[in-house]
Amino acid sequence: MAKARTQFVCQNCGTVHTRWAGKCDGCGEWNTIVEEDPMGGIGAGPGKVPKKGRPVTLTSLSGEIEEAPRIPTGMAELDRATGGGFVRGSAVLIGGDPGIGKSTLLMQAAAALSRKGRRVIYVSGEEAVAQVRLRAQRLQAAETDVLLAAETNVEDILATLAEGKRPDLVIIDSIQTLWSDTADSAPGTVTQVRTGVQAMIRFAKQTGATMVLVGHVTKDGQIAGPRVVEHMVDAVLYFEGDRGHHYRILRTVKNRFGPTDEIGVFEMSDRGLREVANPSELFLGERNEKAPGAAVFAGMEGTRPVLVEVQALVAQTSLGTPRRAVVGWDSSRLSMILAVLEAHCGVRLGSHDVYLNVAGGYRISEPAADMAVASALVSSLAGLALPADCVYFGEVSLSGAVRPVAHTAQRLKEAEKLGFARAVLPSASPDLPKGTAGRWSEIESLPDLVARIAGSRVKAGEDTDGN
Ligand code: TYD
Ligand code: MG
Repeated sequence: MAKARTQFVCQNCGTVHTRWAGKCDGCGEWNTIVEEDPMGGIGAGPGKVPKKGRPVTLTSLSGEIEEAPRIPTGMAELDRATGGGFVRGSAVLIGGDPGIGKSTLLMQAAAALSRKGRRVIYVSGEEAVAQVRLRAQRLQAAETDVLLAAETNVEDILATLAEGKRPDLVIIDSIQTLWSDTADSAPGTVTQVRTGVQAMIRFAKQTGATMVLVGHVTKDGQIAGPRVVEHMVDAVLYFEGDRGHHYRILRTVKNRFGPTDEIGVFEMSDRGLREVANPSELFLGERNEKAPGAAVFAGMEGTRPVLVEVQALVAQTSLGTPRRAVVGWDSSRLSMILAVLEAHCGVRLGSHDVYLNVAGGYRISEPAADMAVASALVSSLAGLALPADCVYFGEVSLSGAVRPVAHTAQRLKEAEKLGFARAVLPSASPDLPKGTAGRWSEIESLPDLVARIAGSRVKAGEDTDGN
């Protein structure tokens, strides 16, 4: 008889080890390795006698597609993030911190689809039926035909789904609660989560129903266990936001059927999530225009322009090594900007702590923010507020040159719409709106920018002298 084999799987990254260890070699996390029995689960070893394969029918690429491939929910922000609605027969993973609003979002989506006559099944493994009903009442979704089940067993869920008319949308909340009889390990382990998700995906592919899977993110920002299913699903969306703020961002990180750089913006209210059609107004809402160290960045999220305030604080350090703390931006990118300021512009920050914050818990991933960051830093160091009606964008290279970025026209249009009359942008920017060329300050290099900001002190001084 084959010896019973167990394996040790990291619950954070899924790395398989031959023996238990305190620290995972794969991701460096401590105490995440758990003993699991691989038999019966996905990735079972060669313990079983291999069954004889059965030939499948091969078909051609062309052929009939009988139904509209997408189901739009009518919630514009959600549809934008999914690339125009849920794709039939696909599996979508929605990850996010516990309590961020995943269940709320999906309940609203379920209600919206149900009102359009779709058959929607909501399987909750976390909350009892009464709790889900209570939430549905609050979201004014109670009167819809969404079908509800509180169940965690994979086989029971599949049997339930197979009964009656095929569902259009199935929501599984959450994959960490799924457990299957065929896998021996405890619920929430990698083997169980993979087995459960695999079974749900198979159901989606076979029937053409859309499967939405909820996964909780744990401490270090990776979905616990579910990170190991990201490769199995068709789309991965993250629901993010700062607990201290009301708005939430639905960000696409993988999409086999659409773009991956789109975001949907929502605001959490006492009646659930409200869609935010113009995020810039929200991100700029609490601006203090007279404070030094704040620059408005004209950014892009996918096809949509977003204005957001970048705040910097530069202060004399009291420690041996100055602190650099960044919220909402890449910290290595900040180090680069600091180095360029130091090397090419004579701005010495070696004995200063630098804090950088993107307002409202928003996260910028574009290099085009370099210029806004540099402006905020210089403004804070010099103690000079930047003009309140000016936006900044442009990429800074290591040589100190400022490079043009894409979508200039869209960024400027959004800025104008929100009352920003001026912009500091890279020289030789393509697609500048016609007839407006004289209105923008075109910057060739970072030293130009620093001189410009420092020059405003001289000007301010002249004004006072003149008075
Ligand atoms: P929930 O959807 O349960 O989060 P998740 O499923 O991601 O764990 O959201 C829970 C939070 O949302 C909770 O802190 C309360 C808040 N909330 C509101 O502010 N308004 C509402 O109408 C609802 C339903 C929830
Ligand atoms: Mg939930």
